[in-house]
Amino acid sequence: MNLYERNQKQRTFFNEKIDSYDDVHSTYMETKKTLGDNLDKNTKRILDLGVGTGLELIHVFELYPNAEVTVIDITENMLKELKKRIFADHVTTICGDFFEVEFGENYDAVISTSALHHFKIEEKIKLYKKIYDCLKENGQFINCDKIALTQEIEDGQLYELENNIENHKHIDTPLTIKHEIEVLKKVGFQEITSSEVDKKDYSLFKARKKM
Ligand SMILES: C[S@@+](CC[C@H](N)C(=O)[O-])C[C@H]1O[C@@H](n2cnc3c(N)ncnc32)[C@H](O)[C@@H]1O
Repeated sequence: MNLYERNQKQRTFFNEKIDSYDDVHSTYMETKKTLGDNLDKNTKRILDLGVGTGLELIHVFELYPNAEVTVIDITENMLKELKKRIFADHVTTICGDFFEVEFGENYDAVISTSALHHFKIEEKIKLYKKIYDCLKENGQFINCDKIALTQEIEDGQLYELENNIENHKHIDTPLTIKHEIEVLKKVGFQEITSSEVDKKDYSLFKARKKM
């Protein structure tokens, strides 16, 4: 199954999950808050990749009520829920695959949570290069996402992705912290950090574009 087909499979999965999504993810609110908490003080223009129903934006708008936020998500039902939120008028929504959609440019920050752990290393390099390119100089990429706690987990999940995807409705293929940092470095990011959050199998990655 190629990347396009896998992304469409994600879309079907999340379209079907919509009724329980916010309840299931309510236990992840602390990880989602780390995005807003780590933005630079002068942040204005933000791009959110895989925003879902917008749970992480609740805190972003508490801290930055004047933020101009663009979001990209492949799942129409998720964005329908986001549009009901009180801050929806401050958000430009794009329904599409972040591998295909143009990101625009000059963002102060690109943020993402729980959305980027389904890709192979070479696919992530392409995506992170797009992220790097759409940022202003000194712009931040902040990603709080699932990680593989061991190399065996990373290898095992990638094996399933390549050999057995038909038997999974949804498959997570997180990278180890080491590999995630290598991808960020490879596309040119600097000041890369990873820190623990309140979920053991998640990490907060921060990286900066420096010219
Ligand atoms: C687990 S949800 C996370 C949503 C939100 N960030 C949160 O933390 O509540 C993952 C989201 O990523 C979106 N997504 C997954 N693959 C995508 C892709 N290739 N392009 C755009 N959105 C994608 C899904 O539609 C889904 O809404």
